[in-house]
Amino acid sequence: MTSILIAVSVICAINTAFAILLLIAEALIVDTGECRIVINGEKELAVNGGRSLLATLKDEQIFIPSACGGRGSCGLCKVTVLEGAGPLLPTETPWLTPEEQKGQIRLACQVKVRRDLRIKIPDELFNVRQYCTQVEDITDLTHDIKQITLKLLEPPEIAFKAGQFIQIEVPPYALTDEPVYRAYSISSDPAEKDHMELEIRYVPNGICTTYVHKHLKPGDKVTLNGPYGEFGLSASDSELICIAGGSGMAPIKSILLEMARTGNPRRCRYFFGARSGRDLFLNDLMRSLEQKLPNFSFIPTLSSPQPEDRWEGEIGKVTDAVGRHVKDASRAEAYLCGSPLMIDACIKLLREKDMPEDKIFYDKFA
Ligand SMILES: Cc1cc2nc3c(=O)[nH]c(=O)nc-3n(C[C@H](O)[C@H](O)[C@H](O)COP(=O)(O)OP(=O)(O)OC[C@H]3O[C@@H](n4cnc5c(N)ncnc54)[C@H](O)[C@@H]3O)c2cc1C
Ligand code: FES
Repeated sequence: MTSILIAVSVICAINTAFAILLLIAEALIVDTGECRIVINGEKELAVNGGRSLLATLKDEQIFIPSACGGRGSCGLCKVTVLEGAGPLLPTETPWLTPEEQKGQIRLACQVKVRRDLRIKIPDELFNVRQYCTQVEDITDLTHDIKQITLKLLEPPEIAFKAGQFIQIEVPPYALTDEPVYRAYSISSDPAEKDHMELEIRYVPNGICTTYVHKHLKPGDKVTLNGPYGEFGLSASDSELICIAGGSGMAPIKSILLEMARTGNPRRCRYFFGARSGRDLFLNDLMRSLEQKLPNFSFIPTLSSPQPEDRWEGEIGKVTDAVGRHVKDASRAEAYLCGSPLMIDACIKLLREKDMPEDKIFYDKFA
């Protein structure tokens, strides 16, 4: 018995000694004091180490896209880290293809700044800025989607491309002790630079959407940063097939408003999926766009129409409607926006209809 106790004590002592040695080694080797970050071989920052690369860059007014506020659950915050990142973490691998891993792409929210780093980011991220805005109007579009109109205060204008998104900063409140960031597509026309519209669907207990739906009111200030994203109309003249569900309407609406303003003659069919009549919105706007755009048609479809809807339009999932209307997609382009499940189903269908993979563009609202 005594010998077992001695053996356990010795093992515990050895473990404690190792832990102390590791802590000393980390303190000596790992620099969490001042670190240098060299960006794109040109710009050099002197920063305090110890936090994530995402948070550190944000403090320097360099905003990397992020929809989950750094929790490692959106996969948007990809940057190339050429030196100083340490080994790839299990929290990163689900978001990175084998090619991206070979190309030294990392999730900025998972990489800790502990030593000097050399990184590469797209040049356009240097144009991303923080904006102070004020809520001008909040309108109920459906029972769970609100349209938020924000007036730009400082800077007083934003330049963005139709299809891009911004990140709202939610201040600490009942559901969060620290600021969190969530992505929202801009739904207004890019020509209107002094304000923007967002269409935000309520997610029960969601941090940002509860804040927006239950707390935000006209006159409140909202901090946001952006614009981000490459989702947007190509320069070609091939036919467009747009497909959206719920708040996925937002970037498609921005694209359509720009097409109407510029008199874009491309043929465009817009399939919009909703459950029942109470989930449909902006029908009047879409019908007015049909008048303005000679080659545009809006095709809403209801998966569960209710008797009171007196629905005479398309019935079924949005993919059912696309399947009925689109026979050959080989020469068209698709723009998809909504839940990951809907988008995956649409991609599968469009591929079956011979649409080339590189002609399918999408924003997953994950
Ligand atoms: C590029 C991009 C653009 C986006 N644009 C829009 C937009 O225009 N309008 C819009 O309404 N949303 C949009 N989103 C989604 C948005 O960023 C948030 O994820 C969503 O609003 C939920 O945020 P939350 O803080 O309220 O919920 P969270 O606090 O993040 O989540 C709470 C819980 O709900 C779950 N959850 C999160 N999102 C959803 C969801 N969409 N549906 C169901 N359950 C969910 C989470 O898994 C979690 O369990 C976009 C996302 C991306 C990546
Ligand atoms: S910010 Fe979402 S995964 Fe990094």
